[in-house]
Amino acid sequence: MMNKIDELVNDAEQDLAAVSDGAELEQFRIKYLGTKGSLKQMMSWIKDIPGDQKREFGQKANAARQQIQAAFDNRKSNLGSGTSSSKKSKPLIDVTEPGLPPRMGRKHIISQTIDELLEVFGRMGFDVETGPETEDEYHNFVALNIPEQHPARDPLDNFYLTDPNGKNPYLMRSQTSTVQIRVMEETEPPIRIVSTGRVYRPDEHDATHYSMFHQIEGLYVDKNVSMSDLKTTLLQFAHAYWGPDTEVKLVPSYFPFTEPSAELYIKMDFGKGPEWMEVGGCGMVDPAVFEAVGYDPEKWTGFAFGLGIERLAMRKYNISDIRWLFENDVRFLRQF
Ligand code: DAH
Repeated sequence: MMNKIDELVNDAEQDLAAVSDGAELEQFRIKYLGTKGSLKQMMSWIKDIPGDQKREFGQKANAARQQIQAAFDNRKSNLGSGTSSSKKSKPLIDVTEPGLPPRMGRKHIISQTIDELLEVFGRMGFDVETGPETEDEYHNFVALNIPEQHPARDPLDNFYLTDPNGKNPYLMRSQTSTVQIRVMEETEPPIRIVSTGRVYRPDEHDATHYSMFHQIEGLYVDKNVSMSDLKTTLLQFAHAYWGPDTEVKLVPSYFPFTEPSAELYIKMDFGKGPEWMEVGGCGMVDPAVFEAVGYDPEKWTGFAFGLGIERLAMRKYNISDIRWLFENDVRFLRQF
């Protein structure tokens, strides 16, 4: 009888070693540990054991049962709880749950605005040009008729990359007017271009100012270009971009690279009543600029403008604080 217990333990160990999945383990459990399993039967052998050996048999049988139970538990946890028993295993996903719609990415509102602006000016016949964000003083100031002592060149108003008193200082461009010079240096008139991009100024951040923002620059050079061409172009742009009822006005101003010069204002209303907001500058290209790029100012005339893209977008989408455009809070950006 004692030998039969050893045999049973042996068989059980071999069977368990051959188990490879939850279903086989369950069969093993039924065969050895189940209510009609081998271990239960083993306990019934005791009635055939002589009285003086019953105690020894009982101890051995108990030890055998514990050994097989422990081996089974061990194997079960190795296989993982989900597969240990077909009764207990649950599907990991509920296929009857309604699905979550995938969240679509989108272009930043400034990129969308740039696309729209290029499209509006494209319809008016303007080609697209680009220029570098790091510039030399020549393209950012000198060729634009901004002399050495002009306050616009103050180191406190620009992000110089090298000592401004050094020989050829570089800076982060403070305006996209630089692209006017770069295009005219390489092309003969007639010219009709727009250029968008980032510009940098160490401004205090508030609702309408930021130290980095975007501009759209326009340049039109041909024979007999007049101020009324400029005015018509900007008015048509305003009506195409914001709608035919938009109120805009040109206010006389001064820029070194245009003569005469003006500022473009647009009527805004962020809920505190209507107010005029300046969105950029414009004017007739100054003869000194034509001379800097080797154009004959007697022959060529032109207009130019530079508008702040954030401000254009703020008016279009009713955004009252420029800082929201750069905080990249998806709850804000997702609205557009
Ligand atoms: N560059 C000017 C600025 O950033 C804006 C500007 C004014 C651009 C007049 C022009 C212009 O092209 O003609 O303040």
